[in-house]
Amino acid sequence: MNAHLRDMREGDVGAVAALEAISFRDPWSAGAFREELAAPRRAYLVAEEATELVGYVGIMLVDDDAHLMNLAVRPDRRGEGLGRSLAGEAMARASAMGATRMTLEVRPSNASAIALYESLGMISVGERPGYYADTGEAALIMWGDLPAAGGAVRLGTDDAPYTELILAIETSCDETAAAVMRGGRELLADVVASQIDFHARFGGVVPEIASRKHTEAIVGVVDEALALAGEALGYDAPLPFAALDAIAVTHGPGLVGALVVGLAYAKGLAMATGLPLVGVNHLEGHIFANVLADPEVGPPLVALVVSGGHTSLVHMPEWGVYRTLGETLDDATGEAFDKVAKVLGLGYPGGPILSRLAEEGDPAAIEFPRAMMRSGDYAFSLSGLKTAVINHIRHEQQAGREIHVPDLAASFQQAIIDVQVAKAVRAVEETGATSFCLAGGVAANPALRRALTGAMERLGVHVSVPPLHLCTDNAAMIAAAAHYRYLRGERLGLDAEPITSLRLDTE
Ligand code: KG4
Ligand code: ZN
Repeated sequence: MNAHLRDMREGDVGAVAALEAISFRDPWSAGAFREELAAPRRAYLVAEEATELVGYVGIMLVDDDAHLMNLAVRPDRRGEGLGRSLAGEAMARASAMGATRMTLEVRPSNASAIALYESLGMISVGERPGYYADTGEAALIMWGDLPAAGGAVRLGTDDAPYTELILAIETSCDETAAAVMRGGRELLADVVASQIDFHARFGGVVPEIASRKHTEAIVGVVDEALALAGEALGYDAPLPFAALDAIAVTHGPGLVGALVVGLAYAKGLAMATGLPLVGVNHLEGHIFANVLADPEVGPPLVALVVSGGHTSLVHMPEWGVYRTLGETLDDATGEAFDKVAKVLGLGYPGGPILSRLAEEGDPAAIEFPRAMMRSGDYAFSLSGLKTAVINHIRHEQQAGREIHVPDLAASFQQAIIDVQVAKAVRAVEETGATSFCLAGGVAANPALRRALTGAMERLGVHVSVPPLHLCTDNAAMIAAAAHYRYLRGERLGLDAEPITSLRLDTE
């Protein structure tokens, strides 16, 4: 069996109604399904083999309950476990949408359906007399508790993996990026147009120019992603919008003029196509670069997010639940690298240049301060270190001594690493996390990767560092994070505005 599950779309309604007509004595019409698809608090899923619809299921949320509206499998595909996959997926989805119990009614004469629901933990709780108009039969009412979602969403079943297609867009800083992802893990296209070379001449990102460049690039980048996805799926044309299940977009944090381009474009697409819009936090995206690359990464986890704009330790006790343990009080880690490189006249971005030089230097050559090392919390401060390094440079220059740049770079970098490793280790110990991951642009730093990997392995914790191409901003990581939000039924309104300091914390 090669069926896969995905959300029911407008275009499926004809086939669904046809299957409904041969499955039930009092079938719903195509119009009824169309109305259901437009109604709030519903989830309708279909099972598809190649391009043929072979089954469907629908649920409606009523208070804390999810009511199973209908489930059917094409007669020639019965007995292969598809009904079980559909019902199981509906339960997982219901639980992800916040329901705690599933209810349904079934004909008492339908022994195979009753056996299926019993095998999923549902029990008979009563009868509704005279429910079926055609036979006057009573309906058997069944219900069962749903497993606590805890944000965890099962990704389909082994027999029928969940394979929604998401187009994700990222424009929070200086990369215009689009990706197409199937089922949260299978990357069909990953396009990044970087503006770094353009901004380098100014020693950093110029926000107005970033905004303008995103505007120029976004259409081409999205088109290229759809073309590559079409190719990956063996089509001889780009993936049509109609084949997508959702549009995902970074809605913060980031530069307002940069975020607004991706968000406006994504909202426009969602409006024109009727596809749901899913908003993703950029930092969550960086964490999901690890989930994408390493299937063993999962909650409870601690992530160190270090980028040009952020330095935070984040606890994710369950999928989609975030608690910031501590963050920088002043400069971000990448920013400190960039500023020190600038003073040394090394170019932008400074992180990769300094870290390359540091590999040749002695990390113990110069004693720089380890700020907040013993502060007893998870806060960081980098501006003191930056000032100490700059003072050291000036002092040496005034004394007429030549600066040994590799030693300086290695010593500066080591001061950062010592504090970050110590705090990361304590965060893992105190939270009891079983996974640790490094995230953000600075995750490309080889010495930081080595130090954290070693420390976490000594703790016996699963440790993950993203592959280099997923460290810097990209849309693949946004798509990976969007998968979970999509399955939880989280949607961004078409009136959403960019949030430049969007918090990651869920409560
Ligand atoms: O995540 P990112 O691409 O953009 C933001 O969201 O900020 O991170 C960019 C930052 C820059 O400050 C860059 O200097 C830094 O990541 N970076 C590095 C390294 N590679 C990039 N910092 C230290 N060592 C590196 N190897
Ligand atoms: Zn970033």
